[in-house]
Amino acid sequence: MLNGCGEPNAIFLTEEESTNESFTFPLHMNEAKCNKCHGLEVKVSKIGELRSHNVGKDCLSCHSIEGAGRGIYTVAGSVYKPDGETPYPNIKVNFYPRNNQLENPVAVLEVDGNGNFYTTKEIMPGGKGDGEVGLLYPSVVTDHGEYSMPVSFSISMGGCNSCHGVDVARIFAE
Ligand code: HEC
Ligand code: HEC
Ligand code: HEC
Repeated sequence: MLNGCGEPNAIFLTEEESTNESFTFPLHMNEAKCNKCHGLEVKVSKIGELRSHNVGKDCLSCHSIEGAGRGIYTVAGSVYKPDGETPYPNIKVNFYPRNNQLENPVAVLEVDGNGNFYTTKEIMPGGKGDGEVGLLYPSVVTDHGEYSMPVSFSISMGGCNSCHGVDVARIFAE
């Protein structure tokens, strides 16, 4: 039987850990493999929400089957203002099937109040794309315009912040 939260024999926080209030979840497991059990939960970023953290880091390094973050993200990242330092909250990221913005996006993700976007959903059902299976073209949409990635993105590349902020500039928009 699963040792769920609220069980009398749940593992409670030590006094030292309980002063860390960045997350208010009952730490019922003292192991990090949350997604062995919670891996099917649906988590999607929403405009205005402030649940996320670690802006600029590669979310998928933790929000994965083996990682410590709940939810197995298929796509996640962070958007900044042109200074590359100030997070850009409450905008959208579109995913197009081709290297133009003529067709409807295959998926649209909302960037939350911290400048982060994430989803556990399969955003390429059927693997639609530019002839080659599994390719999409992301772009960031703001009131000032649309800022597109000139090359294709594939889910197998991992998190957006595994390139952006590492070997290319952070994702930015005006
Ligand atoms: C062995 C399986 C298992 C593991 C591992 C596990 N959980 Fe849970 N968790 C459960 C069950 C079962 C429940 C209670 C069912 C429910 O409320 O949906 C639960 C409930 C919760 C809840 C309260 C309900 C909710 O969704 O808000 C939180 C928060 C939570 N777990 C976080 C975590 C975190 C963080 C980790 C990793 C440190 C973790 N869990 C690891 C099985 C597990
Ligand atoms: C170093 C590991 C790590 C990184 C990197 C990381 N997270 Fe987390 N994340 C965690 C842990 C641990 C928790 C707390 C346990 C939980 O609820 O998943 C958490 C919790 C969260 C939550 C709240 C849980 C919920 O209800 O959905 C969100 C949202 C979140 N992370 C989003 C992100 C985003 C977006 C990124 C990238 C910008 C990111 N995380 C990067 C480890 C990480
Ligand atoms: C494999 C590395 C890689 C990954 C992963 C990646 N990108 Fe990019 N991205 C690039 C490169 C290279 C450029 C072109 C940079 C340049 O022109 O200087 C770029 C440019 C962009 C641009 C246009 C410049 C800007 O910041 O406005 C956007 C928008 C963008 N990417 C969004 C994303 C999003 C969203 C994701 C995740 C879904 C992502 N990228 C994943 C490599 C990557």
